Amino acid sequence: MVAAGALISGAGTNLQAIIDRIADGRLACALRLVVSNRAGAPGLARAEAAGIPTRVIDHRGFAHREDFDRAVVTVLREAGVELVLLAGFDRLLTPVFLEDFPLRIMNIHPALLPSFKGLDAQRHALEYGVKVAGATVHFVDQDADHGPIIVQGAVAIGPEDTADDVRRRILAVEHEIYPLAIQLFAEGRLVVEGRRVIVRGPRPALPPPLIHR
Ligand code: GRF
Repeated sequence: MVAAGALISGAGTNLQAIIDRIADGRLACALRLVVSNRAGAPGLARAEAAGIPTRVIDHRGFAHREDFDRAVVTVLREAGVELVLLAGFDRLLTPVFLEDFPLRIMNIHPALLPSFKGLDAQRHALEYGVKVAGATVHFVDQDADHGPIIVQGAVAIGPEDTADDVRRRILAVEHEIYPLAIQLFAEGRLVVEGRRVIVRGPRPALPPPLIHR
């Protein structure tokens, strides 16, 4: 069982997928706290509905990024959080945060990294003309969308697809692979060797067309 805290800024559908997977007994994780930097984030209501404590810490109330990070780290530590889950969190973390949770922060990005880092990755993938897109769960390091890759899931892109189609299809993959990555962490099966994350034990079963190699 891993004690986790989630950082959100928006809809919180990944948070919901994690909540649902915990509720149905397939994810050995206790969500101790959900922090949003935006007061109106719909994800906050999802957390409240699941009985998870929430905090709003508005980044605009801090003169420096480091001060904001220190405030968030403090509430996470007070809640006993061991693993931090970025779930649609729209702020970059400073070393202040990273040093407190080394290889203990995960992020989900809606692209097959290292392609299409940054915002609006799904649309950029479509416009680039890739035939396979996807999502990545990775450990967070000092560079955005860069740390060691834990799980990836792929989707095909067809000629008729719009950016919304691609976004929807990738989101469905996100909702599968984020809980999976957390479960592997909770089972102590993730070994980080440089950039590579080795999954110890039996390969996790992924529904097609998800790919994790
Ligand atoms: C997801 O596409 C995730 O990959 C990205 O931000 C989005 C968050 O969506 N980092 P939601 O708030 O979980 O619905």
